[in-house]
Amino acid sequence: MSNAYGIDIGTSNFKMCCNDKDKILNEKNIIAIANKTELLAYGDEAYEMYEKAPEHIDVSFPVKFGVIADIENMQTLLYNFFNKINEGKKVTGSDFYIAVPTDVTEVEKRAFYELVVDSKVKAKNVYVVDKPVADAIGAGLDVTKSKGIMVVNIGAETTEISVLSLGGIVISKAVKIGGNKLDDCIISSVRKAYNLVIGSKTAESLKKELGSAVQVSESFAPGFGRNVLSGLPVSVDISSDVIYQAIIDALHSIMDAIKVILERTPPELAADIIKNGVYFTGGTSQINNLEKFIKQETNLNVNIVDHPAESVVRGLMGVVSNPEFAKIAYTPTEKNFD
Ligand SMILES: Nc1ncnc2c1ncn2[C@@H]1O[C@H](COP(=O)(O)OP(=O)(O)OP(=O)(O)O)[C@@H](O)[C@H]1O
Ligand SMILES: [Mg+2]
Repeated sequence: MSNAYGIDIGTSNFKMCCNDKDKILNEKNIIAIANKTELLAYGDEAYEMYEKAPEHIDVSFPVKFGVIADIENMQTLLYNFFNKINEGKKVTGSDFYIAVPTDVTEVEKRAFYELVVDSKVKAKNVYVVDKPVADAIGAGLDVTKSKGIMVVNIGAETTEISVLSLGGIVISKAVKIGGNKLDDCIISSVRKAYNLVIGSKTAESLKKELGSAVQVSESFAPGFGRNVLSGLPVSVDISSDVIYQAIIDALHSIMDAIKVILERTPPELAADIIKNGVYFTGGTSQINNLEKFIKQETNLNVNIVDHPAESVVRGLMGVVSNPEFAKIAYTPTEKNFD
């Protein structure tokens, strides 16, 4: 049997795994190009250069809001990540399973498929799997038999809210809110509260350390940045209350989108969702106290999946290894994207 690779191409992170390896590759989906053409670094190494590089080095994310915006750089990244997971060994003729978002246009979906078909990875077969279905399999759910599963994937630039039943998607809606939005809100609130300009990496680490979806007792963490008035670099103790106030509106918007989908869910399926709880995946579902917040707002039970950012790619491996899930993978010629 040939190797099979699963790929989840995210806005912030690229995840890939292979059926003959235990580990998951999860690196920043970013590329650093020098003098317009020369590949300088990719993945986590390129992210080190982000917001630090001089002008002749272009450090960019080729995926925006969950869809491929820069095909050429995404091609380069795919090929380099593929070689990395194979530890430099030359591998061709493998099968590829690509997770595709649901609430996007047909052209945007097809771009994920074509990216791999046209790639130097020289695939034997390329299949796509609807991302929410892979996500649910990665969360350990038997999607082909279960009715009424709700999966909410809160990523970096999108939150995808989906209701599944018997292996198919009943409703799926993506909203353009995720972890990056929280980081942006933190940047502007910290500027207002402390006259402090911080970068996105500092905002992200403040979010992870102090961020909470419900108000908790006040704590502090250092924020490094530049004082607006003096222009000098400083370290300021940032309050968790400021971070909470910064992110809570965006979290409410996610909550409202979940409520809209619940209202549109057929009652019999809603009953199952109430029984089983909502499954949360994606990196941003790790924000502290998300469970409490959702429970307070909706009274629904909440399941936060283990290693939530890698749930989709684990699900792709589930599709490869479990014959019961075989029909879940398809090619655009077999089943038209709609
Ligand atoms: N402990 C944490 N607390 C809060 N947020 C976190 C934590 N760990 C990671 N994140 C956030 O998770 C996000 C990345 O998640 P993920 O890898 O699921 O996104 P993605 O798949 O690249 O994006 P998308 O699905 O929107 O295309 C980032 O915004 C990151 O800051
Ligand atoms: Mg994602």
